[in-house]
Amino acid sequence: MRKNELLTRDQNTILVVDDEEGIRSQLKWALADDYKILLAENADQAIDIIKSDMPNLVTLDITLSSNSDRDGLWVLEQIVKMSTRMKVIMITGNEEKEFIHKAINMGAYDYYKKPIDIDELKIIIKRALYIQRIELENETLSSRMREERHFDDIIGDCQQMQEVYSIIKRVLSTDVPVLIYGESGTGKELVARAIHYQSIRAKKPFIPINCGAIPENLLESELFGHEKGAFTGAYYQKKGKFELANEGTAFLDEIGELSPTLQVKLLRFLQEKEIERVGGKQPLQVNVRIVAATNKNLESEIQKQNFRPDLYYRLSVITITLPPLRDRNDDILLLANSFLNRYTKEYDKRIFHFDSLAVERMMTYKWLGNVRELENRVKRAVIMSTNNIISCEDLGLDDKVQQKNTTLVDIVDTVQRKHIDLALNRTKGNVSKAARELGISRVTLYDLIHRFNIKVNEYRKHNYQYS
Ligand SMILES: Nc1ncnc2c1ncn2[C@@H]1O[C@H](COP(=O)(O)OP(=O)(O)OP(=O)(O)O)[C@@H](O)[C@H]1O
Ligand SMILES: [Mg+2]
Repeated sequence: MRKNELLTRDQNTILVVDDEEGIRSQLKWALADDYKILLAENADQAIDIIKSDMPNLVTLDITLSSNSDRDGLWVLEQIVKMSTRMKVIMITGNEEKEFIHKAINMGAYDYYKKPIDIDELKIIIKRALYIQRIELENETLSSRMREERHFDDIIGDCQQMQEVYSIIKRVLSTDVPVLIYGESGTGKELVARAIHYQSIRAKKPFIPINCGAIPENLLESELFGHEKGAFTGAYYQKKGKFELANEGTAFLDEIGELSPTLQVKLLRFLQEKEIERVGGKQPLQVNVRIVAATNKNLESEIQKQNFRPDLYYRLSVITITLPPLRDRNDDILLLANSFLNRYTKEYDKRIFHFDSLAVERMMTYKWLGNVRELENRVKRAVIMSTNNIISCEDLGLDDKVQQKNTTLVDIVDTVQRKHIDLALNRTKGNVSKAARELGISRVTLYDLIHRFNIKVNEYRKHNYQYS
């Protein structure tokens, strides 16, 4: 498929398929200033043009009265089979709802009821083309990134992740401790592994230790080891994790859960670089790089006297903060596509892409479980999917109750808000640039900013932090 062509051409191409001459000329007249317009009056003509010209978007009359049984739904089916990112907007008359739902389920982007209000339709078209651009850019990016990624498994191209990569690169050749902050599922362990496996310690062990999962009375011997007979049940000598990690890296996960006693012992270890097995008499020299992670705010744990400040300063020489997925707009589809790739291969499925509603939902969903949740949803969808397109239902993101009460206006609002957010992010809060990018006037954008109560200043602040 010539997907790249859709992205790189100077002017987007729209194919208007309608058997009514009046509609064809109305749309041509209304849209020709902004787009290259092609016209077809029946299904066969439409398919010929679609194959030869690859329009970005098709407005498709759902009925297409002609002598053949090739109606709009048939054309839609052909387009979907071609598995391009072509957007299809069904133009409907007074057809049964069922008919329209069928079209949406088959993969149409949206539908629009006659009589046509050109201004409204223009918004839908603009939005569809914008989403298409994001989808295509992400696909291109994800295939490019597969070839030139620095840190094998970490996917992400957003500004915050660039900052993360640049810190990782700088710490690789050193032994300084690194503290990784981030909500659950944001990739803390992945980053810790990257730090280890890209460093000169790569051939030595990487030892993860979950400070929250091991009961306190066992943790000390887990970390430092014990001698035979050191306590009841210590039938033999056991090496501790720090000893096992010698010359490599110890990853202290959930460091915020470490008890006060063990905080003291860890601090001593960091200062002296030696360990003493429980019940042991001789300290042992070990050379271990420490990478710690937490989803707690350690500074407020210090305030609450749950965490020792001296240990904190030792551990946090370098800190890396992983952004929550919901703040990584540009990366959501990149990650989703790469998991799609991974799991279609693993489960030997032929699935090509997500449908438009699934894309919209993924872009607006809160992702409280972050990348882990996205990965699990995509994996499940790949396993469950019965055709070659992944829908909201497959992802478990079809909130049926919510959908029933959601009007088209709500959907348009959500999507508009999202795209304004994206544009302001890209332009670092520059309203004029964002308006230009969105193809609307500054005044309109200001109106929308006001209506959605968007804080433009936040985008300026936010970006200074990373620039
Ligand atoms: N940037 C990323 N690119 C690719 N995969 C990622 C990324 N971030 C996270 N993942 C995947 O998401 C899952 C969770 O990541 P990881 O275990 O590193 O998160 P975590 O921050 O340690 O979570 P927790 O706090 O719950 O332990 C893993 O399967 C990991 O491979
Ligand atoms: Mg983890």
